[in-house]
Amino acid sequence: MKQRTVKIVDDATDLNYSLPVENGTVRAMDLRQIKTGPDDFGLMTYDPAFMNTASCRSAITFIDGDRGILQYRGYPIEVLAEHCSYLEVAYLLIFGELPTQAELKNWVYDITHHTMLHETTKSFMEGFRYNAHPMGMLVSTLAALSTIYPESKHVFDAANRRHQILRLIGKMPTIAAYTYRHGLGLPYVYPDNDLSYTENFMNMLWKMVEPKYQANPVLARALDILFILHADHEQNCSTNTMRCVGSAQTDPFLSSAAAAAALAGPLHGGANEAVLVMLDEIGSKDKVPAYVKKIKEGHGKLMGFGHRVYKNYDPRAKIIKWTAEQVFEVTGRNVRLDIALELERIALQDEYFIQRKLYPNVDFYSGIIYQAMGFKPELFTVLFAIPRVAGWLAQWQEMITDPEQKISRPRQVYIGENTRDFVPLAERGTAVRR
Ligand SMILES: CC(C)(COP(=O)(O)OP(=O)(O)OC[C@H]1O[C@@H](n2cnc3c(N)ncnc32)[C@H](O)[C@@H]1OP(=O)(O)O)[C@@H](O)C(=O)NCCC(=O)NCCS
Repeated sequence: MKQRTVKIVDDATDLNYSLPVENGTVRAMDLRQIKTGPDDFGLMTYDPAFMNTASCRSAITFIDGDRGILQYRGYPIEVLAEHCSYLEVAYLLIFGELPTQAELKNWVYDITHHTMLHETTKSFMEGFRYNAHPMGMLVSTLAALSTIYPESKHVFDAANRRHQILRLIGKMPTIAAYTYRHGLGLPYVYPDNDLSYTENFMNMLWKMVEPKYQANPVLARALDILFILHADHEQNCSTNTMRCVGSAQTDPFLSSAAAAAALAGPLHGGANEAVLVMLDEIGSKDKVPAYVKKIKEGHGKLMGFGHRVYKNYDPRAKIIKWTAEQVFEVTGRNVRLDIALELERIALQDEYFIQRKLYPNVDFYSGIIYQAMGFKPELFTVLFAIPRVAGWLAQWQEMITDPEQKISRPRQVYIGENTRDFVPLAERGTAVRR
């Protein structure tokens, strides 16, 4: 097939350029040849917030935002959520194929045997203030793991990488549960290797004095589905951070800490916590129209609505809504769900939201489910981070093994002063500028 090209005419020089198009992209570096003279640096692109820039080539997650499609390694998210466990999906993300029965058995065994935290990590976590935010604790503890496993810096050693991946996926629920118990002043519960990934997490969260914790199977499966839905989402803010920090050959624990820090923001993973705050602020179903009016007048945003990529609907939100019904059969109906449903109903009929293609996203219902399960809002973003670690690691590994990758280092458009004459301190006057 004929190679597609785009032609550019530079009206500064009247020169013509022909740039090859591959996968719907032109290489930004191809623009560098477009110069006004030998001393010119060459043309660059300006793209704050990466609105139209592909930062990598990836074979992990496919999203078609206009059609509401999300696939991991070619499998639709709906199929994976229905048929797989989270660890099966984590394997798929990291290794590219669904595991065979034997592979899954080994994988689950290996992860289960990497769930313990070193006692010094436990003591480290005990040092946090009683009201420390769980995300701050998670970010710091992930970074601290780098001090326990210094060999993780050998990022080009495939066996070493696999070992650190097992550790991180294994330890995430343990760290998350400890951040929760810490806030309540409860003793930390050690992992139980007889339990599944999510049952073990629930055991570490909620076990009190009973000899064996029995997780409710509906809630354990709901959590597993939520983990599948959150496992990866291509080049979002935290994944981009993981790749960017990892591109400096930083070890995976420090890189994950940076990614988790990005996730903590309210415009990213922090949105599920913000949704709950918003629903509480609304208070009751009858106050929804007034709240929507306020948003339309420019006072704040409807949290859990809108997405940079999904401009039709977020396929994860549909599955979560279904999961919410299962959870509420166990926990009883929650008044927040009624407010959320009313909010969704009103917003989806409103021109403001229709025109801007604003639909409920993954965070809209996940917070309500978590709350019904007994989680405090402060823990919601940590619940997002547990499974997202699989995506971060898959993307990190893909980046590390990509021969085209170099250290991430964007360019800038300098808009500051030209070279200025230095004025000694004594001659700068006495004015106070604020
Ligand atoms: C997700 C989000 C950051 C995407 O932002 P974005 O792609 O940069 O989109 P923009 O901010 O340019 O939004 C486009 C328009 O929709 C409006 N808009 C976007 N999200 C909105 C929301 N949740 N409520 C009300 N208006 C919203 C913007 O004000 C803007 O309106 P304008 O064109 O009149 O200025 C944004 O939708 C948002 O802040 N949502 C709430 C937080 C959230 O749920 N985040 C979780 C994402 S999974």
